[in-house]
Amino acid sequence: MQLSVSALLGLVAAANAHGIVTSPATRTPGDATAAVCGRIMTKFYQADNTSYPEALFRANPNGIGKDYNPNKCNLYLCRGYQFADNAKNVQSYKPGDVVEMDVFIRIPHKGYANVSVVDTTTNSIIGTPLIDWPDNYAATLTPPANQTKFSVTIPTTLGDKCTTAGTCVLQWYWLGQGQTYESCVDFTTPKSTAMKFKA
Ligand SMILES: *[C@@H]1O[C@H](CO)[C@@H](O)[C@H](O)[C@H]1NC(C)=O
Ligand SMILES: *[C@@H]1O[C@H](CO)[C@@H](O)[C@H](O)[C@H]1NC(C)=O
Ligand SMILES: *[C@@H]1O[C@H](CO)[C@@H](O)[C@H](O)[C@H]1NC(C)=O
Repeated sequence: MQLSVSALLGLVAAANAHGIVTSPATRTPGDATAAVCGRIMTKFYQADNTSYPEALFRANPNGIGKDYNPNKCNLYLCRGYQFADNAKNVQSYKPGDVVEMDVFIRIPHKGYANVSVVDTTTNSIIGTPLIDWPDNYAATLTPPANQTKFSVTIPTTLGDKCTTAGTCVLQWYWLGQGQTYESCVDFTTPKSTAMKFKA
């Protein structure tokens, strides 16, 4: 059997990929993602959901296809995965809720990481990271347990910014040795009820 160069690169990429949030449920790539990020990208992450964009480009030196639309698919926000593919997994949180998170790290890559509430419409962090590791994240083969199992607290200062599903995610972001990883948990918080008390 003969393997093409791109198939070999694909195998190498798969064996090299490193991390993902395993709980709560995160965005996964499906039809909505394929529509704006393209089929090459979608298949790449479907084959290995712990992979990262730098490997995607390395495995596809001739580009990732005409159906990749960088205006609609930001490979560095939630890996490019679209909300519509995760509409059935929207978490309902209240301000102050403590959310347990589990991360799977396949290969260590010393770097920094954080979990933040991100407004997906602007790709900006709302407030400050809920937890962050300024350095030494995933630096060892078995990272400290509190880097892969930890909790974050939903801020009490979100106001009505996260009441519409798809707008806000809890994004785990890890940058280690030039490789970027994100996993996104879609969530909403209830609309504030302040209006009710107006005279
Ligand atoms: C990632 O892929 C693995 C292997 O296909 C699968 O078992 C797992 O459920 C996926 N995890 C997520 C969070 O999508
Ligand atoms: C925190 O995560 C955001 C992405 O959500 C990233 O832009 C930022 O550089 C990260 N900051 C640190 C210190 O890790
Ligand atoms: C995580 O665990 C390490 C020991 O493995 C400890 O030194 C560190 O303070 C802990 N960090 C947090 C944020 O709990």
